Amino acid sequence: MGQPTLQIIIGSTRPGRVALPVARWLRDRAVAHGAFQVELIDLAEVNLPFLDEPNHPRLRQYVHPHTKEWSATVERADAFVFVTPEYNHGFSAVLKNAIDYLHQEWLYKPVGFASYGGVSAGTRAVQMLKQVVTGLKMMPVAEAVTIPYVNRYLGDDGRLRPNDVMNQAADAMLSELARLAPALKGLRAA
Ligand SMILES: Cc1cc2nc3c(=O)[nH]c(=O)nc-3n(C[C@H](O)[C@H](O)[C@H](O)COP(=O)(O)O)c2cc1C
Repeated sequence: MGQPTLQIIIGSTRPGRVALPVARWLRDRAVAHGAFQVELIDLAEVNLPFLDEPNHPRLRQYVHPHTKEWSATVERADAFVFVTPEYNHGFSAVLKNAIDYLHQEWLYKPVGFASYGGVSAGTRAVQMLKQVVTGLKMMPVAEAVTIPYVNRYLGDDGRLRPNDVMNQAADAMLSELARLAPALKGLRAA
């Protein structure tokens, strides 16, 4: 296997979203880590409507161009980081919708989570997402980026100012994803 492709998926589409600076920092961190071809995937640009496919995604009989495009995007990934906010103690609807669109494209791929918020740092959203991704036979990694009181870490330029804990957590998560990506690829081939 050449360098695996890591997709960092931005799980908020809100104007002014914090997900963007978190994802951009992670993208830079992942490039510096060196194990992956890194892609930043912005669900605001992907712009999926609420799931509008008539067939179960498992059948992969997509009728809409937006689904075929989303399928091709996710298909080429070997690992993911979901950058997720916590909305009302759960995950964002936009991220869940993007997950629900597909099935086979997610199977046997590892996923890490970068969450943020108030005191809970988005951990409740991540716990819910772990249930969802295991339904798709994805492998969530234990290592995670977890940012409490995220606004304290945003500079005037809107960029994230990570501390050592965040940087170390990101590197640990990326290393675990790099371990699992080639191992799980074997399962997909089978
Ligand atoms: C609808 C809504 C619900 C929220 N619920 C929570 C919550 O349950 N826990 C939390 O820590 N923050 C919550 N927040 C605050 C978010 O952590 C904060 O707005 C964050 O910036 C959202 O991520 P985003 O900017 O990437 O969309 C909520 C924000 C919104 C807009």
